[in-house]
Amino acid sequence: MSIWRKKPVEAYHADASKSELNRVLSRWGLTSLGIGAIIGGGIFTLTGIAAHDHAGPALALSFIIAGIGCLFASLCYAEFASVLPVEGSAYAYAYGTIGELFAWFIGWNLILEYMMGATTVAVAWSGYFNKLLHLFGLHIPDYLTNDPVTHGGPAFNLLAFLITWVITSILVKGIKEAAKTNNIIVILKVAVVLFVIIAGAFYVDPSNWTPFIPAETPVLDALGQPTGEVNFGFGGVLTAATIVFFAYIGFDAVSTQAGEAINPKKDVPFAIIASLIICTLLYILVSLVLTGMVPYTDLDLKAPVASAFEGAGIKWAVYLITIAATAGLMSVMLVMMLGQTRIFLGMSKDGLLPHNLFGKLHPTYKTPYRSTILVGLIISLVSALTPINTVSEMCSMGTLLAFAMVCVAVLILRIKQPNLDRPYKTPFIYFVAPAGALFNVFLMSYVRAHTWYAFLIWGAIGVLVYFLYSRRHSHLHPKN
Ligand code: ALA
Repeated sequence: MSIWRKKPVEAYHADASKSELNRVLSRWGLTSLGIGAIIGGGIFTLTGIAAHDHAGPALALSFIIAGIGCLFASLCYAEFASVLPVEGSAYAYAYGTIGELFAWFIGWNLILEYMMGATTVAVAWSGYFNKLLHLFGLHIPDYLTNDPVTHGGPAFNLLAFLITWVITSILVKGIKEAAKTNNIIVILKVAVVLFVIIAGAFYVDPSNWTPFIPAETPVLDALGQPTGEVNFGFGGVLTAATIVFFAYIGFDAVSTQAGEAINPKKDVPFAIIASLIICTLLYILVSLVLTGMVPYTDLDLKAPVASAFEGAGIKWAVYLITIAATAGLMSVMLVMMLGQTRIFLGMSKDGLLPHNLFGKLHPTYKTPYRSTILVGLIISLVSALTPINTVSEMCSMGTLLAFAMVCVAVLILRIKQPNLDRPYKTPFIYFVAPAGALFNVFLMSYVRAHTWYAFLIWGAIGVLVYFLYSRRHSHLHPKN
């Protein structure tokens, strides 16, 4: 059955040696790209809702739970990246182990992670930039900073649209420019996160941490009837973990840069794990400080970090945090869009997507400029017209599935080809891989029903495209 055909690991190695991309990324350059993709909307905005409505001071516990699940997935990604140092990420890993249709399906879902992730962040950026303009006394009409649904009438989020084109042009120019821009932003945002932790620690009142896990309360519907869901208690901590999961997305984006890494087999696994561990520690400390500075019931839902400092009377910190968040979100977009075009490149190398559109590199810049512009076009339009939670939930859904599949696939490859050269090996794989897969599937079960419907429709379209185009054009098709 052709849908199960696999691309041999040796063929990947041959591809990697022929890569025309510029190999300029070092171990710490890659780690910086990981941090650039991870720290963003999750920590600067979603912590508010997660603590205020679901976990209270136990937000740190939610970050630890989501972090452990991501750590399992990252250990599996790292082994794969050491065996298959190519840009296709989870798509390529599935193609080498499970089979073509499956790999296609994962690639199709990675579009949700990367493209919808960048879209979510474009919308979040527009919110933060608008806040920054307000701080300086400038005002843009609401219909130019909102989508039509949120605005309740004709509207076009011009800020989200424009920032997407700024990032697109940096990406067309080259990986060096992208990495340089990312490094500057990462230094700024890590400095501000450290500032939040250190300066905030002086304002912590430990009484705000008790009770650490507020008592469970039933969620009521508009008529005052219980809906069956609960806030707070341990259930609330788990719900908050699914929300802050978004804050961790991005460490896997490092794996899409294998084609541009100087020493991909060793440095990509290192960067995946290092960027995740650094961000997990920062997140746990930020959540402890935030819930210690103000009672969780007073945390702001839109800008919790800045507002906690405002509440503590440190007004100038609001400017600093808003500027860092605005810049920080740009690097998340940068790495997400970069990752998307590299995955398309990997898929086009295998014939599953048209080479002319997704595989052609710019003669001077050596970047896949056509697909970068196409990705920019789609993200700019979707972000200008769609509410943020619709796109962020689709992003989480696609990511959770990819993480679960990578955990399964790494175990399959370990069993089927135990003697492959593995510069990095997942420790305790017989525990870590199944636990990672189960954890991510468990979180998927928490995603809301309408996102599931959209996800199933998206999947069905993907299968259709596979049978109408990709299966016949695959380089593994006997006629090609
Ligand atoms: N982890 C990224 C963020 O929080 C996607 O913005």
